Amino acid sequence: MADTILILEDESLLGAELRRHFQRQDWEVCLCSSLAEARHWLLEQQLDPLVVLSDMSLGDGNALSLLEEVRKAQRPQEWIFLTGYGSIPDSVQALRLGAFDFLEKPCDLGRLDLVVQGAARSARAQRRVELMSSSVGQGVDAFVGRSEAAERVRALLQRLLTVPFSALAITGETGTGKGLVARILHQGGLHRDGPMVEINCAALPKELLESELFGHEAGAFTGAKGRRRGLLEQASGGTLFLDELGEMDIELQAKLLKAIEDKRIRRLGGEQEIQVDVQIIAATHRNLQQRVEQGSFREDLYHRLSVFQLELPALRERLDDIQDLVWPLVHEFNLKANRRVRHIPPEVWQRLRQHHWPGNVRELRNVVERCVLLAEDERFPLEWLQLGKSHEAEPVPVMKAEVQGDALVLPLDGSMALDEMEKHIIETALTRHGNNVVATARALGTTRETLRYRLQKYHIKI
Ligand SMILES: Nc1ncnc2c1ncn2[C@@H]1O[C@H](COP(=O)(O)OP(=O)(O)OP(=O)(O)O)[C@@H](O)[C@H]1O
Ligand SMILES: [Mg+2]
Repeated sequence: MADTILILEDESLLGAELRRHFQRQDWEVCLCSSLAEARHWLLEQQLDPLVVLSDMSLGDGNALSLLEEVRKAQRPQEWIFLTGYGSIPDSVQALRLGAFDFLEKPCDLGRLDLVVQGAARSARAQRRVELMSSSVGQGVDAFVGRSEAAERVRALLQRLLTVPFSALAITGETGTGKGLVARILHQGGLHRDGPMVEINCAALPKELLESELFGHEAGAFTGAKGRRRGLLEQASGGTLFLDELGEMDIELQAKLLKAIEDKRIRRLGGEQEIQVDVQIIAATHRNLQQRVEQGSFREDLYHRLSVFQLELPALRERLDDIQDLVWPLVHEFNLKANRRVRHIPPEVWQRLRQHHWPGNVRELRNVVERCVLLAEDERFPLEWLQLGKSHEAEPVPVMKAEVQGDALVLPLDGSMALDEMEKHIIETALTRHGNNVVATARALGTTRETLRYRLQKYHIKI
């Protein structure tokens, strides 16, 4: 997969020459001639270049301010500054902000190539570290549990990590770890050096989802301003995680199947076929076979996905895992909230085993969080379990957050914490409004400042 370099240069001849030069070396080049244009691509369109090659002073300001803004929002990337009148204060400031290098114009292309290659290597290495240090660095063992069912899941995962699959489906009730397993599969699998790109198919209307997945050329439809690479392209060399695939529109399913089979796609409004080498992991809490029978899921796509299928067991079917899951959670929340819960009375274990767990591990996590936060001493407080009557084990209908037309339905069964609800509402609204902060704030009846504060609070990147 071609890596992306963003060139920010307002001298059009030099810009065009640099573009040609890097395109010849198989870079995907995005050429911008002003800070505003670069800001648009980096922050609004979330273009994720490996390297940025930038002039220092542009018609509309100094590029250092953009570097500062982008640093907070982006995955690791390296910046190289190219300038005609490299003043010392600017270069010092550039290096302080973490720029990779600083070259004076006119710059020999051979030297520039060496610096760009070094920057690309450095950015790639940082991205690998970022991936490894995230929670699933431990491989299949991140899926915790001593039960036979959990062991079966780990054994299957271990096998799948060595198989070059092009599509795979994970099914299971809400909170059973579908997202976790998708990450384990990407980070330990054959595509681990590529990106993992994620999208929730239930969050977007059909047309928007289509252009997100396949990308579009400028003017492909009203509102399609620039050219945009779709997620299938962006994930090339890596993994595309399609969450809630069961909700995808049936016509789009046909297009997705074709993309999986041909390993080629065409952007909306585009002529050219683009090769994509991507492994697709789809997750759904629906019973896909049932959806096929009802006519809302395509049989051919179902068969394609079920070549490798991973069904995650509900927590109530593997009660022996509760202990293994609870202790690390207690430890985590002890640290976070500065508590020292160390003793879990037998009655608590008994209640935990009797509960029906409609929200599975996510619900268990929320319950443990509440109890640790409210604990007054070393004892896990039985009184805060509040598992309701469902410990008598009557089946409770499984609820989950979902979009219904213009409304968002949220479960009130304890499977979702208040903070999670708020985060989910904001993310859904942002997606609906194409990540436009002003429109999203308006839709949520709040101000831009409040929304920005919450975006930071919940680490939501747009
Ligand atoms: N076996 C497990 N071991 C450790 N943690 C787990 C396990 N299963 C789930 N979790 C944790 O439980 C939480 C919920 O899991 P996750 O988000 O992967 O569920 P999901 O199946 O994707 O749910 P949904 O269908 O609602 O999206 C996460 O914090 C996850 O890390
Ligand atoms: Mg999930």
